[in-house]
Amino acid sequence: MLKLKVITVFGTRPEAIKMAPVVKELEKNSDTFDTVVVVTAQHRELLDQVLELFDIQPDYDMNIMQERQSLAEITTRVMTKMEEILKKESPQIVLVHGDTTTTLAASLATFYQKTLIGHVEAGLRTRDKYNPFPEEINRKLTDDLSDLLFAPTEMAKNALLEEGANDENIFVTGNTVIDALLHTVNIPFEFSSTELKGIESSNKRIILVTAHRRENWGKNLHEIATAIKELSQKYSDIIFVFPVHPNPVVREAVSPTLQDVENVILTEPLEYLPFCHLIKLSYLILTDSGGIQEEAPSLGKPVLVMREKTERPEGIMAGTVKLVGTRKEKIVEKVSMLLDSKELYEKMSKASNPYGDGKASFRIVKILKSYLA
Ligand code: UD1
Ligand code: UDP
Repeated sequence: MLKLKVITVFGTRPEAIKMAPVVKELEKNSDTFDTVVVVTAQHRELLDQVLELFDIQPDYDMNIMQERQSLAEITTRVMTKMEEILKKESPQIVLVHGDTTTTLAASLATFYQKTLIGHVEAGLRTRDKYNPFPEEINRKLTDDLSDLLFAPTEMAKNALLEEGANDENIFVTGNTVIDALLHTVNIPFEFSSTELKGIESSNKRIILVTAHRRENWGKNLHEIATAIKELSQKYSDIIFVFPVHPNPVVREAVSPTLQDVENVILTEPLEYLPFCHLIKLSYLILTDSGGIQEEAPSLGKPVLVMREKTERPEGIMAGTVKLVGTRKEKIVEKVSMLLDSKELYEKMSKASNPYGDGKASFRIVKILKSYLA
């Protein structure tokens, strides 16, 4: 029987984490699918550690990352290389994920070849063009270009319907990030790096911090760093762990303020396995990340989101996530409230799974089978 050729394409850390379970599920069904993995390597080290963890060997590696790359540079490099690959492979469908520039550029190149597109994690919206930037528009345009829309939640499905998408093309699957998280968090791990060795047995409360978003570059990142510094002085018994994104723009904004603070540990980005274990060890999480807003509720960890808007309101509705914005005073106030009130903390730290049950990739592959057949 002729197999169905499916190209999966991704390039950054979050896409890789969330597409890895889909690739594994496609590979499990190798009697039906010929799976071709394309990585743009919009990220390099951050991508490679995920490929290694999930044991994925790409068939094509565009290797496009450059220091301080611009959005237009990523877009043009991905589109040119994607066109060559599509012409050579002639797949039945291309699967893209999420809202990055890799996602949009790969989708557009696929559309130009009149090839089917499946969008994993479709339909998340803030309805604000510049928040998150450029992700809101990347995701919306990718949804417009796509033939199959895998919405993680009913809310995402409704957003697509409101925009006129055809009900028959939308499938609510859960988010594949939960598949990845449940798999990874169950792999035993012990911290051995110089900065984090023994952190499991420190008996101190840990606050995990991440920040990297483009709309926070500049003033907002400075406010965030200053807020962490103030909090670390106010709560000297708490350890703040901040794995810093490799982007020099982010490093230049946070490192000078935080590098010499005693109870703040600035680290290189953690690989996904240690990072999942660090979420588990943490008392609470302060972040502007999208994926972490989805993972932490599953593990019962309160998340304070340092953004003005989120395209993931489900965690807020479930009561485990709160938006705190990017002003220093507000961040300090909200974190202090949560640290000082046991009652508030208990209310926010209940485990909740608004984003899925760990079977999203199984559903996606099942849908692909029946749709392509
Ligand atoms: C990208 C995505 C963002 C996602 C984030 C996840 C876009 C527009 N942005 O943003 O949606 O939330 O990834 O982390 O697609 N770098 C390295 N090594 C790496 C990765 C990045 O050195 O492994 C540095 C490079 O200097 C690179 C810079 O970081 O130029 C920025 O990377 P880029 O992918 O353009 O943007 P992110 O901010 O990572
Ligand atoms: N993550 C990681 N190591 C880190 C920081 C984040 O493995 O040091 C994981 C995290 O668990 C989540 C994903 O990376 O699955 C989120 O990536 P990021 O915050 O860079 O992007 P976003 O989700 O905001 O697009």
